[in-house]
Amino acid sequence: MTERIGVGVIGCGGISGTHLTNLLTINNVEVRVVCDIREEAARRRAEQFSVPYWVTDYEAVLADDRVRTVLVLVPQGFHSQIVIAAARAGKHIFCEKPMAMSVEQCRQMNEEVKKSGLCLQIGYVMRFSRDAQKIKEWLPQIGQPVFVRDSWAMTRGSPARWIHDADMGGGPLWENSHWLDFYNWLLGTPKRVYARLAKLKPDETTAFDTTLLIVDYQDGHEAFWSECWALPGFGWGLIRYRKVRPHLDLIGPKGSIHFPDPEGRAVSALFLHEFGDEPVETHPWESDWGATADGYRQELIHFFDCVRSGKEPICSGRDGQWAIEVAEGAVRSHFSGQPISLPLT
Ligand SMILES: NC(=O)c1ccc[n+]([C@@H]2O[C@H](COP(=O)([O-])OP(=O)(O)OC[C@H]3O[C@@H](n4cnc5c(N)ncnc54)[C@H](O)[C@@H]3O)[C@@H](O)[C@H]2O)c1
Repeated sequence: MTERIGVGVIGCGGISGTHLTNLLTINNVEVRVVCDIREEAARRRAEQFSVPYWVTDYEAVLADDRVRTVLVLVPQGFHSQIVIAAARAGKHIFCEKPMAMSVEQCRQMNEEVKKSGLCLQIGYVMRFSRDAQKIKEWLPQIGQPVFVRDSWAMTRGSPARWIHDADMGGGPLWENSHWLDFYNWLLGTPKRVYARLAKLKPDETTAFDTTLLIVDYQDGHEAFWSECWALPGFGWGLIRYRKVRPHLDLIGPKGSIHFPDPEGRAVSALFLHEFGDEPVETHPWESDWGATADGYRQELIHFFDCVRSGKEPICSGRDGQWAIEVAEGAVRSHFSGQPISLPLT
């Protein structure tokens, strides 16, 4: 018989609603306790999802012998402290992205998890989105090297103010490092990063709100990412609480992949030179990279599979660290004015 896995959820804010909803649908998983430093948030989630216990101190979650796994869903400024404590307490960990605020913190987290032989998965949900998987599936057809350009204008931001804080959230470079992980996942090992960053609304943020990055990859691919959180408020409204103007182009010697399609529809399209101007295949956009489809559910199913089987998660602590290596390299590049080599293997 498959063993029932006890879960503790640490952090009862926005993303916890999504994860708790999904946890209820996953077999042989039991949420035993939810935790938030805000008592009303912990109690509300416990009532809403019929969780037997709620607490305000994460140490109480870690002390519960029936909790084998924890979901760390607090602002990233707290991730390293809680993940390290959870690993020392022998819990398997699903930690939301970004893994931490520095490469050094990521290293410490990975060391602690390695010592204990536990599972650590980072919540870069795009890896579990069918939209992103379709792009990865098409990619070899457009040949090598690939040049990726994406540009996401995110406006109005999240209601959580901490995401604009340099130490707690990190602005788009950390908070939306989904893109850095997506590039690494598509293009392989990042080799060098060059960046220009800005604070266009310094009264609203201590983190950089605007980023321009070029990342070189070991296989010769090149990625360009720009994102700005300082715009007045335009976009298509694709992401729940913020208007965005997403744009993605992947260009290779044999063809290209685009989102939106040339008519501006929410469809990704594959073009190959040998077939002319018509797309060879299209994929209607299902979701915000998994947010409104089942990407979040699939990532948790995968996490519990890894806990049971001992296999390495699709998005591991190493992957989490690599995204932060690029983000941190971007900040160093901005201040030095030079490209920064990333000695990753
Ligand atoms: N994968 C995704 O698409 C996605 C989407 C949203 C958020 N996130 C990530 O999830 C994390 C949480 O984001 P959110 O939107 O839920 O934030 P939020 O601000 O809505 O909620 C965070 C909660 O954590 C609680 N908290 C803070 N410190 C705590 C501590 N030490 N112990 C217990 N509780 C504590 C806060 O009181 C708050 O209720 C962040 O790392 C964020 O980047 C990921």
